[in-house]
Amino acid sequence: MEDLVRSDIEAYAEQHSMEESAVCRKLREETERTMELARMLVGPLEAAFLKMMAKLVVARRVLEIGMFTGYSALSMAEVLPPDGEVITCEIDPEPIAVARRYFAKSAHGRKIKIREGPALETLREVRGPFDLIFIDADKQNYIQYYKLALELIAPSGVILIDNVLWSGDVLMQPPPDDRTKTIQDLNRLVAEDPRVSAVLLTIRDGVLVVKPEPGENSIK
Ligand SMILES: C[S@@+](CC[C@H](N)C(=O)[O-])C[C@H]1O[C@@H](n2cnc3c(N)ncnc32)[C@H](O)[C@@H]1O
Repeated sequence: MEDLVRSDIEAYAEQHSMEESAVCRKLREETERTMELARMLVGPLEAAFLKMMAKLVVARRVLEIGMFTGYSALSMAEVLPPDGEVITCEIDPEPIAVARRYFAKSAHGRKIKIREGPALETLREVRGPFDLIFIDADKQNYIQYYKLALELIAPSGVILIDNVLWSGDVLMQPPPDDRTKTIQDLNRLVAEDPRVSAVLLTIRDGVLVVKPEPGENSIK
């Protein structure tokens, strides 16, 4: 993933946003030290944004699609009330093992329920409504995740979709590969979807913030 925001600007923004907890910092550092795909972590600034969104919607129930080593899941769990929950989907047992170790070190870890397996199957099993849904898994399924998320989101909830700028490759015509095309298609679909209002933010690799219009989603 290419940096779209200047690293000194990113650092300045981080320094002036909610701080990451000590447990999250250790989890991030271990992930960066030991995991080949550590760049998949949202990082401290986007984590602060996720926490802020959870606070703004007064979230109690969060659904995450794509947990990796649990950095974003734990960040969100930290701002939920004691009876709050994060249901998070992950297919790969290796990062799940790391996540479980760190969830056990945090007072907020007990709010997190890991659903191991393909996220599409989990999404068909879980029951909504969720106050916040964060989509951050395999890009080829993004359109299906979006459609299912719309069925599961609370009327007052928000869907967040990560990596929607795809290192800037969304500008390329024709798209260089299937994943880029899916992200382009998703961004167009959301922008034209009368059931939602949306804003594409240039945080990190791009975050799409999607809010159902009143009366438009299926969960009342
Ligand atoms: C970008 S990472 C998630 C990073 C995480 N949200 C964070 O910031 O800490 C995407 C994760 O989705 C997982 N994943 C990919 N395809 C999946 C699928 N079909 N079902 C569930 N998880 C999947 C990958 O194994 C990977 O760990």
